[in-house]
Amino acid sequence: MYPFPAVDPIPLPAPIWLLKLLHIVTLALHFVAVEMLLGGLLLAVLLSLFRSSPLSMVAARSLARRITVVMTFVINLAVPPLLFSQVLYGRALYTSSVLIGIYWISIIGLLILAYWLLYRFTARLQAGRSAWWVGLSAWLLIGSIARLLSTNMTLMLRPEVWRQMYSASAMGAYLPTGDPTLMPRWLLMLAGGLFVGGLWLVYLAGRSTFAAEEKSFLAGLGGKVAAVFGIVYLAAGVWANSVQPAAVKAGLAGQSAHPFYKFFGDAGYAWLVLVGLAVLVAAVAGLGKVSASWLGWVGATLVLLFEIAFTVYRDGVRDLSLLVKGYDVWDRVVVTNWWVVGLFLVLFVAGLGVIGWLVSVVARAQKVMESAA
Ligand code: HEM
Repeated sequence: MYPFPAVDPIPLPAPIWLLKLLHIVTLALHFVAVEMLLGGLLLAVLLSLFRSSPLSMVAARSLARRITVVMTFVINLAVPPLLFSQVLYGRALYTSSVLIGIYWISIIGLLILAYWLLYRFTARLQAGRSAWWVGLSAWLLIGSIARLLSTNMTLMLRPEVWRQMYSASAMGAYLPTGDPTLMPRWLLMLAGGLFVGGLWLVYLAGRSTFAAEEKSFLAGLGGKVAAVFGIVYLAAGVWANSVQPAAVKAGLAGQSAHPFYKFFGDAGYAWLVLVGLAVLVAAVAGLGKVSASWLGWVGATLVLLFEIAFTVYRDGVRDLSLLVKGYDVWDRVVVTNWWVVGLFLVLFVAGLGVIGWLVSVVARAQKVMESAA
């Protein structure tokens, strides 16, 4: 029996390629922010344990102050991909969301609690009080949110277990078991957090608001953390790929009803190369304690590029997993409303412009040395 609910009779209002493009761009930005949050927070918590070391405390406070801002980007950059994925994959995503309904809806509460804890963590650090347990509690909540998202994004690809889950509980009270892709996928995001968090420290080391000794501390520590966790991230990526079904791997090599998915598979190779380059940048910063701002920018650019490559590859995995089960994302009626599409694109570009202006205002603001902030 075909497991997916009937398709909505209302046609899609924009070409599928455009919806997918916007989905991938916005989701990659969500992932950059998520990785900064996961890794930056854990590093701030660990650094805050060394209260007698002024350098550790400057680094911990600098990260913590920025993390509440990063959280706003995590949330705001999550809404567009949520909307695009509902349009493209609603029949799968709504079903899996309902099946784990209690956990899915609990994300809102977990998020509010984690956000509040982040502010408490920062305030306690600024006041010179012990804060690690507050930050660690926030990190555990945020890690659980990531786990629930990975759970739903993998459950939506397994229509074969939906009926049995619904029979066990129609209340959305059970989490699915037995999916070999879930753990590597979640660990990939966690390892990526420390990788990106380390590169974030390398980026901060290039800023003029740190004294010379602080810069070399940030570059040395951040570079070493990023170099080690970059390799863990690579290993987790290879693991997550190896547990994909044979049909998905074949599709990513161009052997499916849609041969262009080879491009999505090639994005996986691009990811390997870009992550490798970022590990090199991290090693240069970490071993030589190099705090040049250009090195930080190279690292930041590589982060953006490998997150895009990762998101393209991940999108291919999803489409091909669903295709094997009879769900073809390209098989929809499209009646493009170009006026609406045009208006959307104008507002989208204007929104990016406003964000760019905001960033430029922050960049031009009077600089305060981090140790005094
Ligand atoms: C602390 C907050 C958050 C964390 C740590 C987080 C983490 C993650 C992770 C790890 C994934 C990838 C899951 C996987 O594929 O294995 C993900 C995907 C996603 N997140 Fe977030 N997220 C957060 C907040 C949010 C919020 C508030 C929303 C909704 C408004 C959201 C919407 C999404 C969507 C829609 C996807 C998947 C999109 C797709 O595959 O099409 N996230 N997030």
